[in-house]
Amino acid sequence: FPVENIRNFSIIAHIDHGKSTLADRLLEITGTISSKTDNKQVLDKLQVERERGITVKAQTASILYNYNDKTYLLNLIDTPGHVDFSYEVSRSLSACQGVILLVDANQGVQAQTVANFYLAFEAGLTIIPVMNKIDLKVADPARVAVQMENLFDTKEGEIIKVSAKLGTGADEVLKKVVDSLPAPVGSRDNPLKALLFDSWYDRYRGAILNIAMVDGSVSVGDKITSAHTNKSYDVKEVGIMHPEQTPTSTLYAGQVGYVIAGMHNIKEAQIGDTLYSAKHAVTPLSGFKPAKPMVFAGMYPIDKSDYVSLRSAVDKLTLNDSSVSVSIDSSPALGQGWRLGFLGLLHMDVFNQRLEQEYNAEVIVTSPSVPYKAKLLNTKANRHDYGQVDVITITNPTLFPDRQKVSEYYEPIVHGTIITPDDYLGKVISLCLSKRGEQMEFNYIDDKRVLLKYKLPLNEIVVDFYDMLKSATSGYASFDYEDAGFEPANLVKMDILLNGKVVDELATIVHREKSHDIGKAVCERLQETIPRQLYQIAIQAAIGSRIVARENIKAMRKNVLAKCYGGDITRKMKLLKKQAEGKKKMRKIGSIEVPKEAFIAVLKR
Ligand code: GTP
Repeated sequence: FPVENIRNFSIIAHIDHGKSTLADRLLEITGTISSKTDNKQVLDKLQVERERGITVKAQTASILYNYNDKTYLLNLIDTPGHVDFSYEVSRSLSACQGVILLVDANQGVQAQTVANFYLAFEAGLTIIPVMNKIDLKVADPARVAVQMENLFDTKEGEIIKVSAKLGTGADEVLKKVVDSLPAPVGSRDNPLKALLFDSWYDRYRGAILNIAMVDGSVSVGDKITSAHTNKSYDVKEVGIMHPEQTPTSTLYAGQVGYVIAGMHNIKEAQIGDTLYSAKHAVTPLSGFKPAKPMVFAGMYPIDKSDYVSLRSAVDKLTLNDSSVSVSIDSSPALGQGWRLGFLGLLHMDVFNQRLEQEYNAEVIVTSPSVPYKAKLLNTKANRHDYGQVDVITITNPTLFPDRQKVSEYYEPIVHGTIITPDDYLGKVISLCLSKRGEQMEFNYIDDKRVLLKYKLPLNEIVVDFYDMLKSATSGYASFDYEDAGFEPANLVKMDILLNGKVVDELATIVHREKSHDIGKAVCERLQETIPRQLYQIAIQAAIGSRIVARENIKAMRKNVLAKCYGGDITRKMKLLKKQAEGKKKMRKIGSIEVPKEAFIAVLKR
């Protein structure tokens, strides 16, 4: 394929605006997949993706498209549609020259549309505005066009109106991709230079690298070198995603495809790396910032004897998701486990769900925490404990340094974008205030909808902000956020005591002003989650030695057989089995049985 007949592009959209549906249509009308296939949403491959209807990991597909008597190679690079994964969006975009900006003709521009638009705009990509779902009775294309003009400076006439569901306008989208996107620059005569923009791990074949060919060519049998590690590998297979892996003999400049080169550890396949020919070194591409985990939690096997099998499951999953950070952790009550870092709470949920679904692993996850920082006082004791470091990062509440060691604590801050109908403005603003938010921007994007920008502490939004925003606005508001560094904060560690004994795994770091409210809420949640046991249990929340909240769980003898009237023995066995299973999902803290939900329930309010 001559480079001038290649176009590399992504579809960017707010969640549910129809990205996967449009991608399916584009693949169908070009015969890449058959339209009869039941296997809809071919790009969403993981089970969790199908179940939740969200894209977690970006996939690509190569399309052959005949237009103006020429055959074009269009590489569609999929992007995830949730805030937690905006990092993956920017890395997918780095392999593209343009994007389709897809907006739902009923819902209109939403927070992620704006965030993704700016990612593409700042990357200098050509933007094709497309309005989807025009078949809907409730569609309001005129209003949505006004929003797009206000926010993206697009003219009404430039917007392609489609129904991805019915296929209307899909061909026009492909024509526009060919006509308006620049072909990739680069020459197959230059030495090999390829961008590694995604990778995943195959049990049998090792790391599979998704690459965008900038210059040169790569064939089976070549030796390629990673600019990141300086290691060289023999190329075993190259090919394109059509949409399944389809081997070819060579990949050329401008193409997007995959390479298998005997990397057995995905850590070697660093996203953003430049690959070049072992014979001919080149200046590396600029690469990406590494993914930054923003939510940390401890993870432990429910049954300590499952540690080894869980370890192998965690290893395998993290092989496929280099944005999860892993360190070994152990706790007196929960035994050996890990401290894992995730991009966000949804990312953490997806990881847990995959552990359970794909590896049949049952785990306890401790309450999630954002990373905090502390500037240490320059004292002899601190130098002894922490060495020469001045500022430490705290990802585990049990390692929170006392006030007397610290000159200042810092918390992570984000800039949040909210788009809401103005009927709900009051509720949205008071929600943001209750989360310690500071308003930065307020703009009408049409005559009824408002775009708000807030500076918010990450820990206030990480757990339930999104749910609260949705319920305050009957589901109409949308939200996205970006990292905005750290700011000083008045932080304290809140311990939880069960019958007078501190349970490290339940400790959290909280803002001092909020410690009473949070302490009370946590005690109440635990009271609901921990079942009654043979003796009374006192639940207390404490800041240092000061108790800020307390609840009791009354003693009760739990006799499951009491429910059993008559002498039906199978029923009896069933209940006993159920009780035994219930026990297995508990962990003993001292003499108290704590269910796994308790550990994660702590922060939900
Ligand atoms: P993520 O991958 O999670 O970002 O979602 P998505 O943007 O890929 O959305 P998806 O394609 O899954 O579509 C979301 C919903 O909208 C599905 O129920 C689709 O059937 C529906 N949908 C998509 N396009 C159209 C359309 O043109 N008309 C109508 N009426 N519904 C559509």
